[in-house]
Amino acid sequence: MAAGTAAPQQQDGRIVKEAMRTETSAGVGSAAVVAGRPVIEARGLSLTFETADGPVFALSDVDLDVQAGEFVSFIGPSGCGKTTFLRVVADLEQPSAGTVLVNGLTPEAARLARQYGYVFQAPALYPWRTIEKNVMLPLEIIGLPAAERAERARQQLALVDLTGFERKFPWQLSGGMQQRASIARALSFDPALMLMDEPFGALDEIVRDHLNERLLRLWDKTGKTVLFVTHSIQEAVFLSTKIVVMSPRPGRIIDVIACDFPRDRTLDIRETPEFLEVAHRVRAGLRAGHAYGD
Ligand SMILES: Nc1ncnc2c1ncn2[C@@H]1O[C@H](COP(=O)(O)OP(=O)(O)O)[C@@H](O)[C@H]1O
Ligand SMILES: [Mg+2]
Repeated sequence: MAAGTAAPQQQDGRIVKEAMRTETSAGVGSAAVVAGRPVIEARGLSLTFETADGPVFALSDVDLDVQAGEFVSFIGPSGCGKTTFLRVVADLEQPSAGTVLVNGLTPEAARLARQYGYVFQAPALYPWRTIEKNVMLPLEIIGLPAAERAERARQQLALVDLTGFERKFPWQLSGGMQQRASIARALSFDPALMLMDEPFGALDEIVRDHLNERLLRLWDKTGKTVLFVTHSIQEAVFLSTKIVVMSPRPGRIIDVIACDFPRDRTLDIRETPEFLEVAHRVRAGLRAGHAYGD
């Protein structure tokens, strides 16, 4: 980790605060998607951090289109710019060169229109608030009436199968349930775009499998566009319609792999030759980029 970079948990906390702060600056935005236009259009996107140890090339010349309704995973070793890419899309970092458009808007305009929800690796729930009150927090900050807040929280908690747990506190729930509550909170504005940064990275494999299936069903049901960061080849192939393989120093895209499994896929497809073939191509891409070679 570069000098001056905060621990991931601290970073996540900071992002939540930044996101909360920005949420006060506008009303509830529409989740409208501009027909025929990619949800994400990145062109020549670069971001260099100037640090005491010299420049860090976090992103270099990234071109990427994401269409409405796609599930796009970003995979690559630590430091290849996955989080930085999501943060640029979310207007939490400014590019050094190039552009990115979100539904045809600048990241700032998209943020003010509440076009995305952000889910972090750590659930980042407030321990003194019930699950329901955690989900309602962004809506409270923008001053939505109590009845509407409660109704939206009810709907979003139902989507992540947490009905009945509204009055529990985060510490009364398992890690997987806490992460589902974070997803419900990110869904509170019903954004068309979900940015998910290793949301299941801290969970054990069995819980992760289960959440992968739930997330896939949620995606299928809601038609959202998802940008999903992971370290797991298996997770990326199982969830995605498209896999973006990245490599560090400088952070760049080295392969984009289409993944055409049916939307209602279940975990057993992981045993099929087609699945293993895509997984093999991802692994080969990571190797070609010397991604895990040091
Ligand atoms: N605020 C920052 N200041 C300096 N360097 C940073 C900052 N944020 C990220 N970096 C560096 O940029 C590179 C890409 O980081 P990141 O996007 O977090 O990678 P990933 O999410 O793929 O692990 C890393 O070398 C990281 O240390
Ligand atoms: Mg990261």
